[in-house]
Amino acid sequence: MAHPEAVDAVILVGGRGTRLRPLTVNTPKPMLPTANAPFLKHLLARIKSAGITHVVMGTSYRAEVFEEYFGDGSDMGLEIEYVVEEEALGTGGAIRNVYDKLRADTVMVFNGDVLASTDLTAVLDTHENTGADLTMHLVRVSDPRAYGCVPTDANGNVTEFLEKTEDPPTDQINAGCYVFRRELIEEIPAGRVVSVERETFPQVLKEGRKVAGHVDTAYWRDMGRPDDFVHGSADLVRGVAYSPLLEGRTGEAIVDESAGIAGGVLLLGGTSVGRGCEIGAGARIDGSVIFDGCTIEPGAQIRDSIIAAGASIGANARIADCVIGEGASIGARCELMGGMRIWPGVQIPDTGVRFSADA
Ligand code: GTP
Repeated sequence: MAHPEAVDAVILVGGRGTRLRPLTVNTPKPMLPTANAPFLKHLLARIKSAGITHVVMGTSYRAEVFEEYFGDGSDMGLEIEYVVEEEALGTGGAIRNVYDKLRADTVMVFNGDVLASTDLTAVLDTHENTGADLTMHLVRVSDPRAYGCVPTDANGNVTEFLEKTEDPPTDQINAGCYVFRRELIEEIPAGRVVSVERETFPQVLKEGRKVAGHVDTAYWRDMGRPDDFVHGSADLVRGVAYSPLLEGRTGEAIVDESAGIAGGVLLLGGTSVGRGCEIGAGARIDGSVIFDGCTIEPGAQIRDSIIAAGASIGANARIADCVIGEGASIGARCELMGGMRIWPGVQIPDTGVRFSADA
């Protein structure tokens, strides 16, 4: 295969993450904690394990947060560079915008919000062995209707890029990871918004370039919506999705060593508990992501929910399938169900009322 040191990684992290609001009001989506590490750190660890060391991040929304956390990447054994878009350029524009930082002929591009367990070297092998101009990672899913689907011919060449449809002709979808020959990136128009999915890929096919599909059935999840985010994090904690950061530490729950857990607390289903949290006696937390500095009072029950930094949940409250924003406070005995999103700092008093987004 292409020597991984001769491969550059590009990660697109400039989106606003609107579907995850209010979690993304202050924090860009790739920096949200999953299994007690910023989501992006798991991806960087996979890139490093594949032997790739030069990483360029295309940033825009909350650009400064990435460099503040990862710096030059040397703590992870990487060399990370950042390219900021003053105005977001879209996925294709972002790839073109990092062109001057590229050194290698082979460029592996990642959406910064996809959780996948695919062997990256296998994708690079497909690119090398087929001599393609562009290789796309395609994943087979049970219900492809929600995604753009990508048929391939008997030789594994991509034949079309299709928008979402109720009647998809294949179960192969675009997994958000691409290998480009560097020259192809130079051909993307510079300095304007370009969608790689809607503009670049159809154009490349129209020009008759060789586009290979690397098809597999490995773990894959787009972390863009709250239910995917919460289940993806739980899958990392339980080892269903692979991260080199969690090698030997997977299980029912992951708890930061600075968190205080009282007696009789049940932490299940891939729950993660961040730094400095306090969990009161008898609380039960199932399949949930608890960011740093949260307080969960005794007897509270939380299921399939995301509790953002500094939020507090009152005694015997019940929260299911909800997003609780930073520093929000949910009163004792309240019940929040069915996709409620509580904005940062909102305080719900100890009323014991039941709220449901489904109602
Ligand atoms: P939503 O607003 O919830 O759709 O999320 P998003 O803005 O992150 O968009 P989407 O999930 O489609 O983006 C896929 C990946 O591309 C994410 O990792 C984004 O950070 C990234 N991305 C999307 N648009 C841009 C852009 O204009 N510039 C850069 N640099 N990255 C982008």
